[in-house]
Amino acid sequence: MEILKTTSQMQAACGNFRRQGKRIGLIPTMGALHAGHLSLVRAARGSCDVVAVSIFVNPAQFGPDEDFSKYPRSLEQDCALLQADRVDLVFAPSMEEMYPPGTSTFVAVEGVSERLDGASRPGHFRGVTTVVSKLFHIAMPQQAFFGQKDAAQVAVLSKMVRDLNMDVELVICPIVREADGLALSSRNAYLDRDHRRQALVLNRAMARAQECALAGEHSSARLLQEARAIIAYEPEVRIDYLAAVNPETLDDVADVHEGALIAVAAYVGPTRLIDNLLISKCASV
Ligand code: PAJ
Repeated sequence: MEILKTTSQMQAACGNFRRQGKRIGLIPTMGALHAGHLSLVRAARGSCDVVAVSIFVNPAQFGPDEDFSKYPRSLEQDCALLQADRVDLVFAPSMEEMYPPGTSTFVAVEGVSERLDGASRPGHFRGVTTVVSKLFHIAMPQQAFFGQKDAAQVAVLSKMVRDLNMDVELVICPIVREADGLALSSRNAYLDRDHRRQALVLNRAMARAQECALAGEHSSARLLQEARAIIAYEPEVRIDYLAAVNPETLDDVADVHEGALIAVAAYVGPTRLIDNLLISKCASV
């Protein structure tokens, strides 16, 4: 496994593989890797010849009052995990390498970037789309792997790829959860024992919405009311958003009959977590 720190090294390594006719799969991450990230590595291993993982805590996607400085960083441990999973390339650039002084070009997807996390975290998706565009230009992968865990990110990146005619296929992988249902997240490291227990309501709320949809409930308002009632059991969980939306546009839907994304973001104590559930068209009829 090669660990590359500069964009020119990464461009050269990926260029070599491409010239040999190899398919490159890229997994963009911010490190502090867990089994959710590793599920993307395995998916890439299954369909690409070369698996490349980027590790970069991207300052452009954090707001001024967010957790950029305390975001968990564990490069050595991350590399050990990736090596064990037979990753070929790790791209771990410095901040100056990704954003040299004077950088003034950004990629913004209008509309969809202003919904859900984009509404709560202004500028967040502009940071995500800028860094992911840069990574796509550097690695030029045939496929890039993302988790359904960040459903709004999936909607924004899919639109970016379509709108800018990027020649890359996005492969979206299912949410990996702990045995008790908590969606894996690098931010779970912030949770103390009691907050971790309280965080389980998010998955429970999604499961309740699923159950109601399967029982034939189509009304978003009623599904969300059921989910909200579950979350209300835990005193230190404060909802940031809870919505039923079209998974592509992230616009609210009143009826989940045609399929919908139920998405939640909530503060569990001081820690903001997200979770979601895709209600498929056939599950709700
Ligand atoms: P990060 O939070 O490190 O996540 C990297 C990738 O892992 C994302 O595609 C995310 O959806 C996926 N992932 C995280 N938890 C998961 C889980 N429990 N199950 C399945 N997949 C999971 O998302 C980012 O980084 C950044 O915004 C990034 C795209 C790297 C741009 O900076």
